[in-house]
Amino acid sequence: MGMFKAVVVEKDESGQKVALRAFDESELMDGDVTVRVTHSTLNYKDGLALTGKAPVVRRFPMIPGIDFAGTVESSTHPDFKSGDAVVLNGWGVGETHLGGYAEKARVKGDWLIKLPEGMTASQAMAVGTAGYTAMLSVMALERHGLTPDRGPVIVTGASGGVGSVAIALLARAGWHVIASTGRVQESDYLKGLGAAEILDRAELSGPARPLGKERWAAGVDSVGSHTLANVLSMTRYGGAVAACGLAAGMDLPTSVAPFILRGVSLLGVDSVMAPKSLRLEAWKRLAQHLDHAKLASMTSTIPLDKVIEAGPEILAGKVRGRIVVEIA
Ligand SMILES: NC(=O)c1ccc[n+]([C@@H]2O[C@H](COP(=O)([O-])OP(=O)(O)OC[C@H]3O[C@@H](n4cnc5c(N)ncnc54)[C@H](OP(=O)(O)O)[C@@H]3O)[C@@H](O)[C@H]2O)c1
Repeated sequence: MGMFKAVVVEKDESGQKVALRAFDESELMDGDVTVRVTHSTLNYKDGLALTGKAPVVRRFPMIPGIDFAGTVESSTHPDFKSGDAVVLNGWGVGETHLGGYAEKARVKGDWLIKLPEGMTASQAMAVGTAGYTAMLSVMALERHGLTPDRGPVIVTGASGGVGSVAIALLARAGWHVIASTGRVQESDYLKGLGAAEILDRAELSGPARPLGKERWAAGVDSVGSHTLANVLSMTRYGGAVAACGLAAGMDLPTSVAPFILRGVSLLGVDSVMAPKSLRLEAWKRLAQHLDHAKLASMTSTIPLDKVIEAGPEILAGKVRGRIVVEIA
């Protein structure tokens, strides 16, 4: 059995350790498809896994990396054959199943999708779980019947991965996008993605009143806590907010007022266990509707040996847009 390079998280009595080292293929977990990974990416959850700041890793040793793109090396799954270009995100990969920060991965074929037409492996990882979650959030707002003529949409955590992709998608769909950020120095970047207005996130980070002035018809929130509570309290009658993240905290100190007095809806978005039909639709739409130049403007690339030090950076809110991790 061969050895390959991988970032490996281990744990003993002294705590969690992470290192780039050789990994034995025979230690890969069960799966019917083996993939030669070419690209992965850094998501907020990967930052948690790399640093151990929250217990997202539930098996040791673990190769983090909640998503990857690559080429099938061998397969006994009927839908995939050697040479197929594939993408994986979610399903507990990088948490309970060995993940994408490695030259090889073995997974269930049911978790894979074919690389969407019109996208390279590198672009798919520029989108990554963050961008795909932004798409799921936009789709949740649409399913609720919300359209740009209903009023503005707010995107919180705007300079982050989910936020950046959400802005680009919503602006292209014709929405007036209000970008809430703690990095007002990134205003030009956010406007380049399609934001029409910039809101200092400090306006949303204190305790929320039960109802505030109605400022937007919809929201995509990757921040949680007081921010989400404020977004809800300022959502127009009949509007909705897609909640997908917790960058500021897992709590939600809100009241029932927005729901029972303004008919506001809170739409939960989970990317990890999202059913395949939703995934396929989201990736297809990302390939069709996400402007390649905008995607490039929000993406930086690092080699595998730099991902360990990038982990704390994303948790500190210092990463702008998306980071692709080049494996091959
Ligand atoms: N539901 C799902 O399946 C799913 C999937 C993907 C991601 N997520 C979650 O979505 C969130 C964002 O993920 P990501 O990969 O986009 O991370 P990210 O790139 O780090 O973006 C998060 C952004 O939130 C803002 N932020 C950070 N700390 C904050 C604080 N204390 N208060 C207010 N705003 C703060 C920052 O934006 P500004 O500097 O612009 O303010 C930061 O760039 C994470 O919580 C992640 O776990 C969930």
